[in-house]
Amino acid sequence: MAKVAVVAAGGSLLYDDSEVNHEWLAELVACIADFTSVGNRLGLVIGGGYLARQGITSSKEAGITDVHELDLIGIAATRVNAAGVKDALRASGVGAADEVAETIDEAAALLSHHSVVVMGGTVPGHTTDAVAIGLAIAAGAESCTIATNVDYIYDSNPRTNPDASPIPRLTLVELQAVVGPPSHEGAGPNVVIDPIGVQLAIDNNLALSLLNGGDVANLAACLSGDSFTGSVVEVS
Ligand code: UTP
Repeated sequence: MAKVAVVAAGGSLLYDDSEVNHEWLAELVACIADFTSVGNRLGLVIGGGYLARQGITSSKEAGITDVHELDLIGIAATRVNAAGVKDALRASGVGAADEVAETIDEAAALLSHHSVVVMGGTVPGHTTDAVAIGLAIAAGAESCTIATNVDYIYDSNPRTNPDASPIPRLTLVELQAVVGPPSHEGAGPNVVIDPIGVQLAIDNNLALSLLNGGDVANLAACLSGDSFTGSVVEVS
């Protein structure tokens, strides 16, 4: 049966250093073309990656310290990235909405009559993980996948702790113990899923999957409901 899925694609996947990773993007487009060819629909939320980091760093160097202002730079970057991904999908004949949705309500409405809706950020105060979780709830999606650049949720940060252990299966409450309470200040590159999004998932009983989206075949397996390498976060 056709289904609705939401994927958050971290901006780090879209960039190879400062250049767009066209090879990955082409694989992603093919994966989405395949997924939607049988009537499935996809909400795709794109992160800021290099563009956001660069923009936020430049603004900080120019003296901007207000988190709200810096968030707006980040949101602009996510929307530029989303527009590029949307154009790549449309150029390949995938039925993606021409609009880059700016709110969750707009995205959910577009998703009711398009195969794919692409969006970036919405408002300051969270990251695109939280946007994807909000969209999955609003659209009544069957799945919400956080595609990032690590293979699993770990019990501590694998980049700083070589002894960190992967957790292939956990509950939302156990995930919250890993990422911490909902706080935007706490969010950042060291947090595997935005804690504000995790709280939203808890409040709405939304199960999540997390995987390394650099391996697009793995993402395709997850979208198809097949076994995949990554973490499954159950409601309880
Ligand atoms: P990302 O979603 O890419 O943030 O949005 P991130 O998780 O920190 O980055 P990656 O995935 O690890 O590369 C970039 C920034 O844009 C702002 C936040 O400042 C965020 O860190 N943002 C994004 C918002 O304020 N609201 C949104 O809805 C989305």
